[in-house]
Amino acid sequence: MRDANQIVAEVHEELKQRAVPGTTTRELDELAERIAIKRKAKCAFKGYRGYPNCLCTSLNEVIVHGIPSDRVLKEGDILSLDFGVIYNGFYGDAAVTIPIGQSSETAENLMRTTEKCLDKAIGLMYEGNRLADVSAVIQGHAEKNGYSVVRDFVGHGIGRSLHEDPQVPNYGKSGTGIRLKRGMVLAVEPMVNLGDWGIRILKDGWTAVTKDGSLSAHFEHSVAITDNGPCVLSKLQ
Ligand code: MF3
Ligand code: CO
Repeated sequence: MRDANQIVAEVHEELKQRAVPGTTTRELDELAERIAIKRKAKCAFKGYRGYPNCLCTSLNEVIVHGIPSDRVLKEGDILSLDFGVIYNGFYGDAAVTIPIGQSSETAENLMRTTEKCLDKAIGLMYEGNRLADVSAVIQGHAEKNGYSVVRDFVGHGIGRSLHEDPQVPNYGKSGTGIRLKRGMVLAVEPMVNLGDWGIRILKDGWTAVTKDGSLSAHFEHSVAITDNGPCVLSKLQ
């Protein structure tokens, strides 16, 4: 699982460098696919329930599942890049949100807070803790900063399938839910909106946007629970 996730991490590094004003989201998708092929990995999302591409490129008010297109990135956009592979029978999955050039302070704060939600969640991923401890810390940190957490999409177990049990909501009541056990691998993925948590799906059947048109940020890591605590498999080593 580490190998699959390290390929994902490598792709994210390359994408971050290419995601500048003037680049199209399709070019990023093609770059991700090229690297996956070179590393003998398969794109996990392409063909998944009919998803057309390797990468999800979610701009500004798009929460998740934005489809790569000829849309040109412009200064001040924020872009979520979500990518997964299957390698040697195991899945890797991770996402980041990045500014294109320089973004507004409002956007920067949203991204920083969302990433912090993920960090705090990972910090609780010890055997014996409860699943909803993780969920609650995400919700708590987001709401403390005046944001809302998306309800309609959740994190997930990951392994020989992209989506395994348990679901990992980004909201919940600490002290509830199953106990975390070593050997579990969870893809934790806070999606945080500047405004309300309501969503709408565009006519393409995939693109999830905020109902109120507000900005949204998304970060994701695949995290193993080990004897020594959480191990972030999708962080480049
Ligand atoms: N990171 C997302 C997920 O875990 C990406 C899924 S895109 C899809 O579920 F196309 F594969 F659905
Ligand atoms: Co995921």
